[in-house]
Amino acid sequence: MTLDLFPHQTFTVPEAIGPDAFVLRNFATPHIEELLSAINTLERQAAFRNMVTPGGFIMSVAITNCGRLGWTTDRQGYRYSPIDPDTGQPWPSMPAAFRQLAKEAAAESGFADFEPDACLVNRYLPGSRLSLHQDKDERDFNAPIVSVSLGMPAVFLFGGHKRTDKAARIPLMHGDVVVWGGVDRLRYHGVLPLKENPHPLLGGQRINLTFRKAG
Ligand code: SIN
Ligand code: FE2
Repeated sequence: MTLDLFPHQTFTVPEAIGPDAFVLRNFATPHIEELLSAINTLERQAAFRNMVTPGGFIMSVAITNCGRLGWTTDRQGYRYSPIDPDTGQPWPSMPAAFRQLAKEAAAESGFADFEPDACLVNRYLPGSRLSLHQDKDERDFNAPIVSVSLGMPAVFLFGGHKRTDKAARIPLMHGDVVVWGGVDRLRYHGVLPLKENPHPLLGGQRINLTFRKAG
């Protein structure tokens, strides 16, 4: 038996990836069970679905949402809506454990009083990818984006303010949290195609939560 002197100290110093952007390794680790059980409940109320982009492509990442507003895309464009277009019902409310984690990660990164009203939940399977984009459908760019990684590892691309700027490749593992705001809020970012690398708890998938102040 090894003596664990610091059983709750899984979290290390924030890793700066920009003046106002940080990777908080293992920040979500103490909350995994609560998060996974909340995701189970959520997906029964608002199933993951592959949405179509305005350009007519079906996204390889499957999406659902919780919170007052949810991000959607269809042939008409990208937008936030209070209603799930698949069910005609409001998106499920944001679980307290989600909100709490997002607020703590934001505060740890220098963004006090983050009040997310939208949580986009992305599910990646092997081969799923997210091409470089800016998160700019939100009304309030003062608030940061908080992104929580669960399940299979991924390579996160963190670029600049132009699509063609060179992007850093940041490996993200189960439990890692990324926060970007301030001068980094509109940086291009994306995810490389996921490799098949089954995770002990989540199997062949990666689930990412991104918290935003959308409205
Ligand atoms: C996103 O940009 O919405 C998600 C990023 C990620 O999956 O890590
Ligand atoms: Fe994004």
